[in-house]
Order: sequence, then C-alpha cells, then structure tokens
Amino acid sequence: MALNKFSSLFLIHIALLLSSCFAEDPFVFYDFEVSYITASPLGVPQQVCSFFMWLSSSFLLAQFSEVWSGIQQRRSSWQDGLPGINCPIPPKWNWTYQFQVKDQIGSFFYFPSLHFQRAAGGFGGFIINNRDIIPIPFNAPDGDMTILIGDWYTRNHTKLRKALDAGKDLGMPDGVLINGKGPYRYNDTLVPDGIDYETINVHPGKTYRLRVHNVGISTSLNFRIQSHNLLIVETEGSYTVQQNYTSLDIHVGQSYSFLLTTDQNASRDYYIVASARFMNESQWKRVTGVAILRYSNSKGKVASPLPDPPQDEFDKTFSMSQARSIRFRNTLAGYVFLLSELKFCRNKPPVTIGGKRLTTLSGVSFVNPATPIRLADQFKLKGVYKLDFPNRSLTGPPKMETSVYPGAWTAILISLDNVGVWNLRTENLDSWYLGQETYMRVVNLEKTNKTEFPIPDNALYCGILSKMQKPQDISFATSITGSRSKLLVTVLMLASVLLHFR
Ligand SMILES: *[C@@H]1O[C@H](CO)[C@@H](O)[C@H](O)[C@H]1NC(C)=O
Ligand SMILES: *[C@@H]1O[C@H](CO)[C@@H](O)[C@H](O)[C@H]1NC(C)=O
Ligand SMILES: *[C@@H]1O[C@H](CO)[C@@H](O)[C@H](O)[C@H]1NC(C)=O
Ligand SMILES: *[C@@H]1O[C@H](CO)[C@@H](O)[C@H](O)[C@H]1NC(C)=O
Ligand SMILES: *[C@@H]1O[C@H](CO)[C@@H](O)[C@H](O)[C@H]1NC(C)=O
Ligand SMILES: *[C@@H]1O[C@H](CO)[C@@H](O)[C@H](O)[C@H]1NC(C)=O
Ligand SMILES: *[C@@H]1O[C@H](CO)[C@@H](O)[C@H](O)[C@H]1NC(C)=O
Ligand SMILES: *[C@@H]1O[C@H](CO)[C@@H](O)[C@H](O)[C@H]1NC(C)=O
Repeated sequence: MALNKFSSLFLIHIALLLSSCFAEDPFVFYDFEVSYITASPLGVPQQVCSFFMWLSSSFLLAQFSEVWSGIQQRRSSWQDGLPGINCPIPPKWNWTYQFQVKDQIGSFFYFPSLHFQRAAGGFGGFIINNRDIIPIPFNAPDGDMTILIGDWYTRNHTKLRKALDAGKDLGMPDGVLINGKGPYRYNDTLVPDGIDYETINVHPGKTYRLRVHNVGISTSLNFRIQSHNLLIVETEGSYTVQQNYTSLDIHVGQSYSFLLTTDQNASRDYYIVASARFMNESQWKRVTGVAILRYSNSKGKVASPLPDPPQDEFDKTFSMSQARSIRFRNTLAGYVFLLSELKFCRNKPPVTIGGKRLTTLSGVSFVNPATPIRLADQFKLKGVYKLDFPNRSLTGPPKMETSVYPGAWTAILISLDNVGVWNLRTENLDSWYLGQETYMRVVNLEKTNKTEFPIPDNALYCGILSKMQKPQDISFATSITGSRSKLLVTVLMLASVLLHFR
C-alpha cells in the first residue's frame, strides 16, 4: 500500500556535524516535493498529502506553508511557516526555509499550517541529533524509531473544512493511524480484513529509542506497548528525569522519546496501542490504533485482548498527575522570576460571531489578515492588525485555562528573549482553524541585526504588498515544466551549533 512510503519517507534526520563554533557554518539541505497521493489507510481510498512523491494536482491549487512544531527559531521568526508571519507559498513554487537548530537536540515534527491540510497528512518526524562530543544522558540506544500516531478521518480535508465552516462538529474520527497505517486486525468485528498495519521489528535484549508524536487533529491518545515499560527520556528538545510508565497520554502536538528495553520473552508478538482518551470506550472502540512489536525470534502471532487503558475513562486526574510527574532534568527550582506582565488566556466553548461558529482565546476569535503581521511590521503598515488582546490586572485571581484539561489551568512562563512575531495557538486543529490563536510581538527598539535576522531574500509578498512579489525565476520556471505538478520546498538548515548543554 502506498502509505508505507508515505510514512517512512517523512523521516528527516538533521545531523549537526560541526567542527568548531567558529568554523564556517555548515548547512544541511533537504528537498521536499509536496503533492497528493492516493492511499487507503482505513480501507477507503482517499487523497493524502505527500512529501517526496508526486501524483496529480489538487494540492497545487492550494497554497502551502509548513510549520516546524516546537523549533525555537532563535532570531529567525521569519522562518516560522505561519500565516501571521509568511505569505503562503504559491503552487509550483520553489521555496527555501532557512533556520538554525541550535541547542535543541531532540524529537520534533513538521506539518502544513494552512487550510486544514494537516488533516490530509503531510506531517513527519524531525530529529535534531547531538554532535559526537556532546554527551546524552543515557547509553546510545541500539536503534532509533519514529512513531506517528493520530486520529484520522476518511473524509478529506476539504470536506472536513466545509463541515467546520458550516458550524458543525467533525464528530468521531474513523480511526487512529500508526505511521500512516490502520489497525492490526485484533478483533474481526471491529477491524475489516485487508488493512495494512505497522510492524516494528526489534531484536531481543536491546534498547531502542522510540520517538512518538501525536500528529492528529484533536484526539488525545493513550500510548502503550503490551508487557513493556516506556522509560521517558526526552520531550521536544528537553531531556526529562527518566521514569518508567506502563502507558502514557500523548495529546495532540506532543512529542516524547522513550527507551524501550526488549526484555520480554519471544513466545509471541506484542501489541502497540494508541487509544482515545476521555471518550466513551464502548463507542470509540473502533477508533483505536494497533500496531505490532515483533521480536526477531518471535514464535508467533499475538493472540490476546489489547492491554487495558487506564481505568479512569472520565476522570482527568490520572492524566493530569501523569503530565505533572514528567520533570525536566534541569528544573528551575530555586530561581526567582520577576514577572513583568501577566496575560490570561481563557478557553471557552465555541461561540457564534456574525452567524459563524468560532472558537476564541479570552473571548477573541483570531482572523488572519491578508498581509502577515511580521511583514506589516517590516513595512510599517498601519491598520493591518489590532493590538487588542484583553489585559487583565495582576490583582485578579491568577487563573489560566488550557484546552488540554477542561476546567483546569496552567501557568506558562515565557521569557521574551527572542525578537519577532510568534504564534500562540491551540494544537487541536479544529479549534485552531476556527480562530483559537493569537500572535505575540517581541520587539527590540534598538536598530541591530543581532537579535533578529533581517528579512530573507526570498520573502514572499501578499495582501497589501502583493505588488512587490516578483514572478518565480525564469530559469526555474523552465526547469519545472518537466515536472509540472510538483511543488518544491527546500529546507535548508543552517546548522551552526554553539552547543552548550542544557
Ligand atoms: C530549487 O531551488 C534550489 C535553491 O535555490 C535549487 O538548488 C534547486 O535546484 C531548485 N529546484 C529545482 C527543481 O529547480
Ligand atoms: C475531497 O472530496 C470531495 C468529495 O468527496 C471531492 O470533490 C474533492 O475533490 C476532494 N478533495 C481533495 C483535495 O481530494
Ligand atoms: C470484538 O468486538 C466486539 C464489539 O466491541 C465485541 O462484542 C467482541 O466481543 C470482540 N471480540 C473479541 C474476540 O474480543
Ligand atoms: C525501567 O524499567 C526497566 C525494565 O523495563 C528497568 O530495567 C529500569 O531499571 C527501569 N528504570 C527506572 C528508572 O525505573
Ligand atoms: C512469556 O511472557 C508472557 C508475559 O509477557 C508470559 O505470560 C509467558 O508465560 C512467558 N512465556 C515463557 C515461556 O516464559
Ligand atoms: C457509553 O456508550 C454506550 C453505548 O452508546 C452507553 O450505553 C453508555 O451509557 C455510555 N457510557 C457513558 C459513561 O456515557
Ligand atoms: C495592556 O496593558 C499595557 C501595559 O499595562 C498597556 O500598554 C496596553 O495598552 C494595554 N492594552 C489594552 C488592550 O488595554
Ligand atoms: C542588517 O543587515 C542588513 C542586511 O544584511 C543590512 O543591510 C543592514 O545594514 C544591517 N543593519 C544593521 C543595523 O546592522
């Protein structure tokens, strides 16, 4: 099935091979071809977004932009592929992202940031490796694998978008995919015949680093491997205190690395499960991702019920205390922070504004201006956006609510040390699409290039500035005629790393 390639080709390794901090900055280049392919992960043929491979067209009628989730973009706000910062990349365009991945060794993923395209796939794992001389806080694993889990609809992303535009809920997903593949047939009633499933092959007595990302739309997933512990070591570029879990709740947008020790007998294969959280289990049974962990000396197929999920279907405390139990290695305990300002982001159920069902942050539903905010700032354009995010005085009760745990709050400490325009959003794709986001400007009034790189040469212009946009280079235009329906995005990573260890 085509989706095999679909998932495996998404893997990008960024090796930061450097001699010295002062040597010439080495670059690593990656080329992506963005297009559609047909795949049937849940037995229903559908068009899915693909990198590297090409098929026909419809995607190319769409604009495109890619976001590098979790990457800090030190000084390179311009490279964060979001509609508030960059103009969308037009179809059939060759565009280069260029950024430095400094001090962030770990596991990330990328996804398209426009028009609900993430629901068509187009995401992939993204690994930033350490240099050889930089130690990691565990022994080098015997293998390194990326596992992408996420809810999936058989309706395509344009249909899903239309449902949202019409004020409807997306409803229950049709399944959970693991590395782009449907579930192993663990139950003949729930899983139809002929679905291609993922198999992770391992050798006994080894340790593997698994990097698990929830790339879905809105479903929180409980991830577990039958009879095996998951030793958490890293999340999104920060090492954690190492702790064993039998299962872990991974919310949309989150990435975790853990070490898997293949210390069980090989009398049979084992299940890898990603099941929906906070949902009525009897209704959501068929929305379960199931893959297979196979020892090289395995004696047979798995034949047992799936390992149990946490027994707390409608109780969020398990998930919340689990999230709290994950600690970073270098905690900030003992530091005193001087808070200069407190902002409150309140997450409420969708509201109807002007006849449209929309989501809000602190009562404001965000609409992307035709001219990106960062571009408007660069050209000192007035009236493109309003600075009207509601203020709340410090004397009020300190309360912030997040979307992850309804009714709960969290405090996020942000050190505003990176100049640029930054997106603050919910990772749930449907809520994000309906306006649950805002942008934050970090301004340095000093005229210097040290705190932010200048506007890139290849910056695209749109909205009020669309007249400034030059057509794509002719030489390039000729070269693309041979491969007409390919959109090429080149990612060029400036891998100059002044690594001091975190
Ligand atoms: C796209 O642009 C890059 C950098 O400018 C260039 O190296 C590459 O050859 C171009 N790709 C095609 C297919 O023309
Ligand atoms: C999505 O599905 C609709 C109807 O099923 C179809 O008209 C449309 O072309 C599809 N879009 C894409 C991008 O595949
Ligand atoms: C398969 O799932 C159905 C529906 O949930 C259930 O009734 C049945 O007992 C399951 N079969 C097995 C073998 O677990
Ligand atoms: C985690 O579990 C493994 C066995 O699966 C064990 O070898 C290891 O010592 C445990 N580590 C911690 C920190 O509990
Ligand atoms: C292998 O391990 C499973 C549990 O992981 C256990 O039920 C089974 O008895 C073991 N078999 C042997 C031969 O040790
Ligand atoms: C879950 O769904 C089933 C089937 O629709 C229903 O019978 C049951 O009451 C529901 N459970 C809860 C706790 O809502
Ligand atoms: C919020 O407060 C800051 C400083 O206290 C002030 O400069 C700004 O104008 C206020 N913004 C709004 C929208 O009230
Ligand atoms: C910043 O860099 C740009 C382009 O490299 C240059 O034209 C400009 O003079 C620089 N500005 C300062 C203040 O260094």
